[in-house]
Amino acid sequence: MRRIAITRDVSPAITRCELTHLQRAPIDLEIARSQHRAYEKELERLGWSLLRLPVEPDLPDSVFVEDAAIVLDEVAVITRPGAPSRRPETAAVAEALRPYRLLLTIEEPGTMDGGDVLRIDRDLYIGVSRRTNEAAVEQMKRALARFGYRVTGIEVSECLHLKSAVTLVDQETILINPRWVIPGFFQGVRVIETDPGEPYAANGLLLGRRILYPTAFPRTRERLTGGGIRIVDIDMSELAKAEGAVTCCSILFEG
Ligand code: GLY
Repeated sequence: MRRIAITRDVSPAITRCELTHLQRAPIDLEIARSQHRAYEKELERLGWSLLRLPVEPDLPDSVFVEDAAIVLDEVAVITRPGAPSRRPETAAVAEALRPYRLLLTIEEPGTMDGGDVLRIDRDLYIGVSRRTNEAAVEQMKRALARFGYRVTGIEVSECLHLKSAVTLVDQETILINPRWVIPGFFQGVRVIETDPGEPYAANGLLLGRRILYPTAFPRTRERLTGGGIRIVDIDMSELAKAEGAVTCCSILFEG
């Protein structure tokens, strides 16, 4: 079994990306691409084989592949992204996953972005957000019960996705912005809270025994290292202007 990371280069259309909670700021395509390349190199250095999808010149948010699919050990779920502009992104992701997993799909009226799905062992927490609705949560419950997954919806209103507010940073620890999601919701895990001055700091990408983590959040970084979390630093500042974070830029699985 190889550890595989699906990625896709930054679209030249990224300047027209969806924005929900941020004001539009100029995005330098070359800087965004070089930060994305650095991200891919870190994945490779940490043992992941890249499965790079062709760039999508007309799909502004297509670098954020995470939103197109959830890959579990037994099955993959191809999403139906909440923003209509993002729905065409799923086709190439589905084709890339087809050799590795049985594919299920979220169907209308369901909408779901992968950024709203947090897996902790056999629990899938799904943010009910502007992008993901209750119909999709119900579809996930029905589709995944037979594989032994518990699916729970969580209201998310203050940020784009559930994983803007909470991510897993080791097998028993979550990093959370408690102003956006209530920590008590997650039972049986250790909790590290983001620094109050760094609201966007809750998104880290767990890669084995360390996390890939943005350099933009030094105070939360101190809390993480103080809690024994090992960090690989990455500058994602240009992609952050497109409301993207570290989990958004890859789909990780074994295959
Ligand atoms: N720009 C990322 C998103 O809104 O989906």
